[in-house]
Amino acid sequence: MSRSTDSLLNPSAKIALAVWSGIKENLIHTQPKKRPTYSPPLITLKATTMTILITGGTGKTGFKLAKLLHAANHSVLITSRKGVAPEPFKAVTFDWNDASTFENPFKADANINKVYLVAPSVFDALPVAKPFIDLAISKGVKRFVLLSATQLQKGGVFIGKIHEYIASLGVEYTVLRPTWFIENFGSLFIHSINNSNTVASVTKNGKIPFIGVDDIAKAAFDALLAEKSSNSDFYVVGPELLTYDQATEILSEVIGRKITHTHITNEQEQGFFRSIGMSPEYAAMLNGMEAAIADDAEEKLVGTSKTITGTHKLRDYFEANKALWTK
Ligand SMILES: NC(=O)c1ccc[n+]([C@@H]2O[C@H](COP(=O)([O-])OP(=O)(O)OC[C@H]3O[C@@H](n4cnc5c(N)ncnc54)[C@H](OP(=O)(O)O)[C@@H]3O)[C@@H](O)[C@H]2O)c1
Repeated sequence: MSRSTDSLLNPSAKIALAVWSGIKENLIHTQPKKRPTYSPPLITLKATTMTILITGGTGKTGFKLAKLLHAANHSVLITSRKGVAPEPFKAVTFDWNDASTFENPFKADANINKVYLVAPSVFDALPVAKPFIDLAISKGVKRFVLLSATQLQKGGVFIGKIHEYIASLGVEYTVLRPTWFIENFGSLFIHSINNSNTVASVTKNGKIPFIGVDDIAKAAFDALLAEKSSNSDFYVVGPELLTYDQATEILSEVIGRKITHTHITNEQEQGFFRSIGMSPEYAAMLNGMEAAIADDAEEKLVGTSKTITGTHKLRDYFEANKALWTK
């Protein structure tokens, strides 16, 4: 784990250091003959606070990551379209749809050296993200941790293109490629669960190593702080393989209400995705990623040398969040 000496200091020690540095400057310029009675170690005076920028920092993985970094006394800046984040975090206004906001993080903090990147959610994501990545590097960013997905290959569609671009730049990087989130049951599927007691998918009896966002945040934390950057990509999966039939059975047991997995066609799924605002290309891509589950595409990623395995389980998430599905 790599940390600057300063990042090991707690916040009050940092304030004391800042005050102390100011006092010292003042003493040098206005009272050259007087010496302070206490001299902190030279190494402490030279230390600089470096900041980790978390795009999508109000989102599922970004916010968990912000909390982990804060708890470990790292300086964190969050981006958000509204420019607000819950206490104690500092946020800046940032919108992928408005390139004039890309400078904001660097105006707010001149010491950003690492970025957690949650990509713009448009099919052709690279032209949107590239100006920000280039700007970040010009402002001193040395390391990126990019959130992608298991089925998005380097150089392929969507975030695969951003993966390829970052890997071509000679900067430090890690690409995290998680499987399907446990938390989708409390977001993507929440309306169908609560309105019609169903989860619809094209996955048939394919198994998924559902991953918790806490485990993704921990993988991002490790990648951001590793002394040596991996400059590679990793799948991030959970500890158990389950079909949607099994997952909905567990949910039914936990909430005491029958939830079923409805098997739908690719056409039905794409139509649904388009109906909630996705572009046809994005809807087809997402459907393709889900359909691959039926051919064991996610199951195959368990236990490979490129796989990080988390610890969080679906049942525990259901137990802890029962109220979400209580009608
Ligand atoms: N769900 C899955 O099963 C799954 C699986 C694998 C990979 N992924 C990937 O995970 C990523 C999503 O990560 P997440 O779940 O941590 O995020 P999330 O919970 O979906 O939150 C999205 C974040 O992006 C911000 N955001 C939304 N629109 C924005 C815009 N126009 N400009 C700038 N920021 C914007 C939001 O912040 P504000 O609202 O504050 O602006 C929010 O913090 C996606 O790239 C997805 O492909 C998801």
